[in-house]
Amino acid sequence: MPAQPDHQASVIAIYSSWDGQRTYVSPGTVIKTLRQRRIPARARILDIGFGNGEIALAVARAFPDARVSGIDLTEHNVQMAERKARELGIETIAFRVADAESWQPPETTYHAIYAMQVMQFIAQPDDLLRRIFRALKPGGAILFATPFLPPDPALHAFFLDAYARVIPNSFQYRTEDAWYAGLFDAGFERIYTAKAHWEPASQPDAWQRRYRRAAAEHNLAFETARRHTWGGLVSARKPQ
Ligand SMILES: C[S@@+](CC[C@H](N)C(=O)[O-])C[C@H]1O[C@@H](n2cnc3c(N)ncnc32)[C@H](O)[C@@H]1O
Repeated sequence: MPAQPDHQASVIAIYSSWDGQRTYVSPGTVIKTLRQRRIPARARILDIGFGNGEIALAVARAFPDARVSGIDLTEHNVQMAERKARELGIETIAFRVADAESWQPPETTYHAIYAMQVMQFIAQPDDLLRRIFRALKPGGAILFATPFLPPDPALHAFFLDAYARVIPNSFQYRTEDAWYAGLFDAGFERIYTAKAHWEPASQPDAWQRRYRRAAAEHNLAFETARRHTWGGLVSARKPQ
């Protein structure tokens, strides 16, 4: 999907003024997946699009000998995450501003790189997957969480519209299979997904209102839409 004009300016505007009150993915889910991938105790770990920083801080606590760092588009997020790190007395973590679209990482450096609810903002995700591949050490893990388009293409127009309304200024949505193809092409192996149904009826009111309006405008029954509302945490590894 092509980038929207000025998509980053709008994303920067949103994430320069948000309250950062919650993470979009539970830190426990990220930690569990990192453990399943058997990353070493002294791992170097990178969080792309760390948001309020709480996931990275929880990862730093769960892996106290690891070196955790994070990049995000906004200075606002860096300040928020650094403040939380100071409050928790965590010094083994570094947050900085960088754009994942143009980020040029050092090669074979990290044991794990994750991006939680960030891929939907990336214009060239296959290019980012290839750069992540190069930045990982052999055997290193990639993790990312994102909403999926359902396999049935007849439903894509609705979901592209509904997800973009629910996650403002997001535009990059794919089927789970398409994400797997991108990972395979980048060189990854052992790909799996912790798939999760997102129950629209139990989301915050504003989310639901936008989603229901999109369904009505696409002449789609709410029940049909909700049955297909899935996302997941995809993970894979670079071959040894
Ligand atoms: C939906 S929030 C997710 C935050 C956090 N990962 C979480 O799960 O709570 C998306 C984050 O991605 C960041 N982001 C979006 N595009 C980015 C880019 N090109 N480079 C770096 N960060 C980006 C935003 O600034 C924001 O912090």
